[in-house]
Amino acid sequence: MQLLHHVQSLRHALNAARSEGKKIGLVPTMGNLHDAHLALVKQAQATCDVVVVSIFVNRLQFGLNEDWDKYPRTLERDAQKLKAIGCDYIFCPEENEIYPNGMDTQTRVIVPTMANALCGASRPGHFDGVTTVVAKLFNIVEPDVAVFGLKDYQQLAIIRRMAEDLCLSLKIEAGSIVRESDGLAMSSRNTFITEQERPRANVLNKQLNAVKTAIENGDMDFLALQAASQQVISEAGFKPDYFSICNSKTLDIAAQDDKHLTILGAMYTQGARLIDNISLSLPQ
Ligand code: PAJ
Repeated sequence: MQLLHHVQSLRHALNAARSEGKKIGLVPTMGNLHDAHLALVKQAQATCDVVVVSIFVNRLQFGLNEDWDKYPRTLERDAQKLKAIGCDYIFCPEENEIYPNGMDTQTRVIVPTMANALCGASRPGHFDGVTTVVAKLFNIVEPDVAVFGLKDYQQLAIIRRMAEDLCLSLKIEAGSIVRESDGLAMSSRNTFITEQERPRANVLNKQLNAVKTAIENGDMDFLALQAASQQVISEAGFKPDYFSICNSKTLDIAAQDDKHLTILGAMYTQGARLIDNISLSLPQ
């Protein structure tokens, strides 16, 4: 495994692999890797000859009052984990390698509308930062396949839309949500959950499952289900951000005749903002 910090050296290494006909996979991350990230790497390895994991805590996607400065940076441990599973390259650039002209005047890639709802509503500009850095990573690595986790469902939907709109030829794969044994979705931000909060932190996942079951049993009063869910989350001692039943592809608020639904939720603990989602298909 090689740890590379520069675009040029990564391009050089990948050009050599590409000229041998090797298929290249990319897993973009911000580091502090856990089992869910490693599962994405294994998924990429299953279909690719060479896998690149990027580790870059992208300031462009963090709001001014968000946790960019306290986001956990654990490169040494991350590298050990990736080496142990046979990853080929870690691309870990400095900020001036990705944004050589600074961030203020950086060309942006924006997916309108989809980026403004749900997480985008409480994190203005967040998804513009995500799509901009992911577009850059796609252009640096030129992967055949890129793998993203379903935990960040809106992020994945927006990146798919970006790829479709910009006629990108790579394949975007989705990795299943990896959870702790009580259902809490794994996240680098789980380290900010306090010991007192932790036993109740799976309330979001429990409520997503409860609403999925309710809809499958014929309860189509989405507004009432959403309001009741926010109440359950509040009663567990967390501040709900949103709880929304959406069309799985567009992420618009679900219509009564939509067959593919995704329920997405976000809530604040004392030190973190947690997200989760679940999808369901109704009979045609
Ligand atoms: P990060 O939060 O590090 O996540 C990297 C990838 O891991 C994303 O595709 C995310 O969806 C996936 N992931 C994280 N936790 C997961 C879980 N419990 N189950 C399944 N997948 C999970 O997402 C980002 O970084 C950044 O926004 C990035 C795409 C790298 C752009 O900066």
